[in-house]
Amino acid sequence: MLNGEELVGRAARDLVKASYAIALTGAGISTESGIPDFRGPNGIWTKKPEAEIRAYEVYEQFRANPKGYWEGRLDPEGPISRIFSIFGEIEKAQPNAGHYALAELEKMGILKCVITQNVDGLHQKAGSKNVIEYHGGLNKFRCVNCNRRFSKDELNLEKLKKEGRLPPYCQCGGVIKDDGVFFGEPIPGDVLQRSQRDAWKCDLMLICGTSAVVYPFAALPEMAYKSAIVIEINAQPTPLTGRISEYLIQGKTGETLPKIVEKVKKIQKG
Ligand code: APR
Repeated sequence: MLNGEELVGRAARDLVKASYAIALTGAGISTESGIPDFRGPNGIWTKKPEAEIRAYEVYEQFRANPKGYWEGRLDPEGPISRIFSIFGEIEKAQPNAGHYALAELEKMGILKCVITQNVDGLHQKAGSKNVIEYHGGLNKFRCVNCNRRFSKDELNLEKLKKEGRLPPYCQCGGVIKDDGVFFGEPIPGDVLQRSQRDAWKCDLMLICGTSAVVYPFAALPEMAYKSAIVIEINAQPTPLTGRISEYLIQGKTGETLPKIVEKVKKIQKG
C-alpha cells in the first residue's frame, strides 16, 4: 500500500508517460478558494438539504413559465434570486494552488483539457485555456434551442424587464436561460459531445474534488477507465474509489496538485 507521497510520485510518472491526459473537477477544487462545496462536511446541500430540493424545482418552473421564471430571477427578493444568491460570493473568489497547478500542466503540454462541474470560472482565471464547463458558467446565458451563448452585456436584462419584454428570446426564436445547467436539465449537446470525446480519447484522467455522484458527469470516468489510468485526488473516497479509479490520493487538491507538478518538473529535468 503506497502512502500519499509515494502516490504523488506515481501520479507524476503516470502524467509524464501519458499522451492525452485530462482533468475532471468538482466543487472540492474550489473550497480552498472559499467557495463551499455541496456534499462535503460543510457543503451547501449538507447544511441545507431543503435548498437542494428547491434547486430541483427551478428547471420545471422555467419550462412551465419562462416569463415568470425571469421575473422571479430578476426580483432581488424573489425565491429564485435566493438560490442564485449562493453564487454571489463566487465572483470575488480567486483561484487557489490547485487551479494554478492544472493550468501549469496544460502549459507544459501534459494536460489537454479540464472538464469542470464548477460554474465559478476559476480554472480560466488561473490560466487554463481548454476548459469545458459541463454545468455551464456564471454570468453567461444560453438559447435552449440553438445553444448560442450570450454574455450579460449582450442581453441587457434590466432593460427587457423595464419594457416588459421578458423572457429574452434568441434570434432563432428559442428562449434564453442562464447558462448554468439546472437539475433535471439536459447537458447542452455541444458540451456533452466534447466531454465524451475526450473521456473516450484520454489515456489518463485526473479526477479532482468531486463526489462523483451526479450524472451524467459521473459517467465520464466509467467511459475512460477501461483504456485510461483514472487517478482520484479527493478529501474522501468516492463511489469511483476501488472500482473505477486506479488509486486515490486522499488529501486537499490545493496541496496535492502542486506537489505532483513539482515531481513532474523533476522527472522532466532528468
Ligand atoms: N481537496 C480535495 N477534495 C475536496 C476538497 C479539497 N480541498 N474540499 C472538498 N473536497 C471533496 C469533498 O469531500 C467531496 O467529496 O470534494 C467533493 C465535492 O463533492 P460535491 O460537494 O458533491 O461537489 P461536486 O462533486 O462538484 O457536485 C457535483 O452537484 O449540486 C450539484 O451542480 C452541482 O456541479 C455540482 C454537482
